[in-house]
Amino acid sequence: MRSEAELLSLAGKARERAYCRYSNFSVGAALLCDDGTVYQGCNIENASFGAGICAERAAFSAAVSDGRRDFSAIAIVGGDAEKVGFPDKQCPPCGICRQFMSELCRGDFRIILGTPRSCSVYRLDELLPHGFDLEDKHGEN
Ligand code: THU
Repeated sequence: MRSEAELLSLAGKARERAYCRYSNFSVGAALLCDDGTVYQGCNIENASFGAGICAERAAFSAAVSDGRRDFSAIAIVGGDAEKVGFPDKQCPPCGICRQFMSELCRGDFRIILGTPRSCSVYRLDELLPHGFDLEDKHGEN
């Protein structure tokens, strides 16, 4: 079992590899599988702005491409790329990443956000209540 601190540290390492020349906001993610395997991801920007990818979805893309479907948690760290060390503000996942997670993860999937002074852990169904799902299209939501 990996600790939240360990996952945040791996997210911080992934953040160092971010390609974020347009926003200068670097993000790293560490995605934990049920068996303890971790996949890292960083944001990768593009001159065609909509073509970039967030760190979280980069981590999921690596994991799914490697055949994984068993996810239990993700740690996310993001902030000003010019500043060294751990950012002092938490970096919650954007709406597209929350929707992406809801496709592949259970409601109790944990989202770990941290700074040097704080650590918050949320469940996916807390951060994306009433998420879109084709199966629920004709249901009550
Ligand atoms: N970003 C992420 O990597 N994850 C998020 O959940 C929010 C935003 C990236 C996208 C872009 O490269 C930069 O942060 C600034 O928006």
